[in-house]
Amino acid sequence: DGFPATRLFSQGYSYTYDDVIFLPHYIDFPTDAVSLSTKLSRHVGLATPCVSSPMDTVTESSMAAAMASLGAIGIIHSNTSASNQAALIRLAKSHKIPFTHELIFKSSSDSILSADQFSSAPCIFVTESGREKSKLLGIVKKSDWEKLADKEVRISEYMTKSSVTLPASYSFETVAGYLAKDKLDFVPLVRDNGEKGEEIVNLVTSDDVERIQEFPKLGLPSVGSDGDFLVGAAMGTRETDKERLEHLVKAGVNVVVLDSSQGNSIYQIEMIKYVKKMYPELDLIGGNVVTTYQAQNLIQAGVDGLRVGMGSGSICTTQEVCAVGRGQATAVYKVASVAAQSGVPVIADGGISNSGHIVKALTLGASTVMMGSFLAGSSEAPGIYEYQNGCRVKKYRGMGSLEAMMRGSDARYLGDKAKLKIAQGVVGAVADKGSVLKLIPYTMQAVKQGLQDLGASSLQSAHDLLKSGMLRLEVRTGAAQVEGGVHGLVSYEKKPF
Ligand code: XMP
Repeated sequence: DGFPATRLFSQGYSYTYDDVIFLPHYIDFPTDAVSLSTKLSRHVGLATPCVSSPMDTVTESSMAAAMASLGAIGIIHSNTSASNQAALIRLAKSHKIPFTHELIFKSSSDSILSADQFSSAPCIFVTESGREKSKLLGIVKKSDWEKLADKEVRISEYMTKSSVTLPASYSFETVAGYLAKDKLDFVPLVRDNGEKGEEIVNLVTSDDVERIQEFPKLGLPSVGSDGDFLVGAAMGTRETDKERLEHLVKAGVNVVVLDSSQGNSIYQIEMIKYVKKMYPELDLIGGNVVTTYQAQNLIQAGVDGLRVGMGSGSICTTQEVCAVGRGQATAVYKVASVAAQSGVPVIADGGISNSGHIVKALTLGASTVMMGSFLAGSSEAPGIYEYQNGCRVKKYRGMGSLEAMMRGSDARYLGDKAKLKIAQGVVGAVADKGSVLKLIPYTMQAVKQGLQDLGASSLQSAHDLLKSGMLRLEVRTGAAQVEGGVHGLVSYEKKPF
C-alpha cells in the first residue's frame, strides 16, 4: 500500500503537510514509551523537539525561559539593539522557573485607577524610579487595592513596605515548598545585582504552582553545563552583526541562528566561516533553505544545524511576492535526506498549525519544529491581549512585514540597503492559547500518539522507518482532506488549540 517517501517526493510536486498522509504501521509499545528526545544542532540536545521562532511577537525572555523549562528552546529575536537582545538572553538564563506573570512597576507617587493595571499579576511593585531595575520600595497587593474606597490616593499611602522575597536561583520545587510552608499567595523572586541592590525578576503564585503541578510531565528542562536554561538567539549577516555576536556570546547564548529567508548566499557563507573561526565551540544554525543544493552549500561552510522553510509560515507572503519557495513537506524531506548524511539536524520552520503537522515534520526527517503562530497567542509571547469580535487575541506579525522591517528586520530579507521596502509578510492577530506550559505538554502527548500509530518509539526510529521504505505515504485528494477534518456537523465544540 502507499508509496515510499523517495518515490512520493520525486514526482515534481511541491507538497505541504496537509497534502500528505502516513499509512499506519505496527504498534508494539505503549504511548508513554515514545521518546521525543532529539538534537537541535550537532551539539545541543533537547528532551522536547520544539523551538520558538526568533520573531518579535514570539520569543523574548518569558518565552525562552518557558520553552527551556519544558525541555525545548526559544530563539530570541534580533529586531532590537544588540545590548537589549543580550539583556533578554541574560534575563531568560537567570531563571530556574518560567515567568507566568507580567511584572508591573510603579512609583510611590502614582495612583492605580483601574484593576486592569495589575494585568494577571496579584501585585504591583513600587520602585524608586517607577520602573524595573530600580530600588524596591514596597508592593501593592491587588487584594489591598480592591479594598480602597478612594482609588485616586497615592500608592505611598497604602503600599506594603516589606515583602518576603526568594532568590531567582531557587528551583520550582523549593519555591513551591516555601509558598506551601508559609501559606503565601505569591512570592517575588529577586536577583542580586551587586551595588545596584536587588532586582525583581519573577513572581510565582500558589495558583501557578498548582497549575504547573497538574500539567503532564515532559522530559528534563534544557539546561547547559553552567546549570542555566539553554537560550538561543538570532543574528544577521551584516558587518554589524559581528559586534552583535560579541554581545550574544558575553550574555551566555547557547546557540546562534543566522536569520535569513534565503540562506544560500555569499553573505551567510562568509558569516558561517567567521563565526566558526571565532567561536568553534558555539553551535551555529544556518538557513533558511528548502533545496538539497542550498543545504549542501551551508553544510560545507560548517553549520551545525539547518532551518528549513521558505514561504510556508502563516504570515509569509514570500511565495506570492517573489515566486520562490517550496511546499514544506517536500522541503523538509529533501533537505533532511542530505543533512542526515552529514549528521546535521534539521529544524522544520513554519507552517505548523496542529500536532499532526508536527508528527509529519518529525517523521519526514526533521529533528525539531520551529513555531511562530502556534505559540504567538500564548501568555509567554510578548505583547498584550486585546479583544477582536469578542475573541481574546494577541498581535502576531511577520518579520518581513513593513511594520517589523521599520524596526530593523529588513536585513533578514537582504533588503536593508534597498530604497524601496517590499513586504514579504503581514501583520495580524492570533487567538489566546493560554500558557505554553500547558499547550506544549498536551501537544507533545498527541505527537507521541501519532508516532505510536506509525510504530516509531523515537524520532530516530521514525526516520529509519521512512528511509527503509517500511513507512508509506499517500497524497490526499481535496475530498480526502475534507474527510480528514471535522465535517457534516451543524456545530461542534472547537478544540482549545
Ligand atoms: P508560522 O507558520 O509558525 O511561521 O507562523 C513562522 C516562520 O515564518 C517565517 N517568517 C516569515 N516568512 N515573511 C516570510 O516569508 C515574514 O514576514 C516572516 N516572518 C517570519 C520564519 O521562518 C518563522 O520562523
